[in-house]
Amino acid sequence: MPGPEGDNSIAREPLWHAYGRGDDRPEPPPWTWASTPPPDSHVPPDPPRPAGPSRVLPTGTAERLSALAYPRVPAAGPMAPDALPHALTAAFGPVRREPENPYNEHRPYASPRCLFPVHAFVGDGAAWRLLEPTRHALTGPDTGAPPTRIALTGRYTAIPVAYQWFRGSLVSIELGMVLRALSLGLELFGVPATLTPPSGGGAGLLRELGQERTWEWSLPWLVDVAGPGPVARAGRDAPAPAGDPSLADVVRVDREQAYPAGAAPLTTAVPAGLPDSPVAPDWAELLWRRHSGRMPRALHGMDSAPRPAPVPARHLAAALAWLGVPPPHPVLAAAFDAVTVTAVVQHVEGYAAGVHRFEQGAAHLRRADPTAPAGLEANYGYGLSPVNGCGIAKAPLTVFFSVRPRELSARLGPTGWGAAQLACGWAVHGLCLAAAAAGLFARPVRAFKEIPTKEVIGLAEDEAIVLSAVVGVPRDTGGDQLDLRT
Ligand SMILES: Cc1cc2nc3c(=O)[nH]c(=O)nc-3n(C[C@H](O)[C@H](O)[C@H](O)COP(=O)(O)O)c2cc1C
Repeated sequence: MPGPEGDNSIAREPLWHAYGRGDDRPEPPPWTWASTPPPDSHVPPDPPRPAGPSRVLPTGTAERLSALAYPRVPAAGPMAPDALPHALTAAFGPVRREPENPYNEHRPYASPRCLFPVHAFVGDGAAWRLLEPTRHALTGPDTGAPPTRIALTGRYTAIPVAYQWFRGSLVSIELGMVLRALSLGLELFGVPATLTPPSGGGAGLLRELGQERTWEWSLPWLVDVAGPGPVARAGRDAPAPAGDPSLADVVRVDREQAYPAGAAPLTTAVPAGLPDSPVAPDWAELLWRRHSGRMPRALHGMDSAPRPAPVPARHLAAALAWLGVPPPHPVLAAAFDAVTVTAVVQHVEGYAAGVHRFEQGAAHLRRADPTAPAGLEANYGYGLSPVNGCGIAKAPLTVFFSVRPRELSARLGPTGWGAAQLACGWAVHGLCLAAAAAGLFARPVRAFKEIPTKEVIGLAEDEAIVLSAVVGVPRDTGGDQLDLRT
């Protein structure tokens, strides 16, 4: 079992992975304590643009999403010619700039520090172009053929080196979030598709995408809208540069994750039977309202405002429904089954304050404890300070996704680790949309000190926290919100 040294998610992550793969007493790798530049000094790399023109995507996506009543999902029908570009904009297109927020810009899904390490490359069977959400364009060779496939891959070097080995986890979690955002976009624009996991064999597809520095990238997941296409596999990885040993190890672990299965259909991102939202009559409004919580005057973090009345029970029921939708593809659904969901609840009508286990669409009280939210806040890495807001003690709901790494590995082999992170990303994005529909915010976070937090929520010694999310009541910051939707 990982020891108590360096009790934070960045240091413990490789230990849990090693424990899962059979090491009973994993030792912190030597680079754990290496000094790294402060995250705020990180300069993200230039966009990975292939050579070729930048073609602007069609406008009018927000207008079309406004015409789609929430929570209904249109029945599948004949696909409109520009459905795929609109689905891409619905999934990735910038929504908002918040001049007072230290992090910008804001897309339909959350991303650590708005770094958006996961990129989409869009192919037509002959060539690949880069989706550039900020430019609202596809960049690369324009063959004139309609796009038919999307390759999703995460760029480790988009994340500050200080995150060390945790860069791999952040990429996998965001891949799961993006997969749900894209599934939703495709569903809303009536585009059926399949999903093909990376099956190992090498970095051939990354080179096909024009990425010669293959070590910067995770092996791609492919979404095909015209039936599964061929996948380039063979191709050697370019060696990761010396001086960043945790990155070399992240790439090694990513390349071990060869999924044996081929393509499977994308399933739904949206649970059936959702209630109407009191704040979002349509999907454009829902996506506009999704956010991670804000602070005024460029302060970091989030705060949860007081609510005059408890949160209605139907909002928690809807969140449970969003959390219960399995991700697409049997390999991810199997990992999703291995994830435990534990929640600290307070001020929700009909639910006792304390620790609940979320299982099969229902909340089961494990321990009544009105002090649990304050216990969580006391063990969070970014507590209340003159530069940081923290609303965890006041938040109606904080959700934890955890796994048993040994069990995961025994059931799913080397793919279990990444698949579980994708499954948690998928689930947390559903929770973020549920919160938006309830007029709340949901902030995915990883900054809990794991060992004491597990005591608060009653997890066993061999359980590892993959991800958590704080669901709070937005406070009015008085800051501007610039609408970037197209
Ligand atoms: C995987 C993940 C981990 C995150 N971890 C933290 C965290 O530990 N602390 C925090 O304050 N925010 C965290 N965030 C929240 C992001 O900073 C936030 O989503 C981003 O600033 C964008 O804001 P928005 O979601 O309102 O658009 C995390 C987000 C993701 C997706």
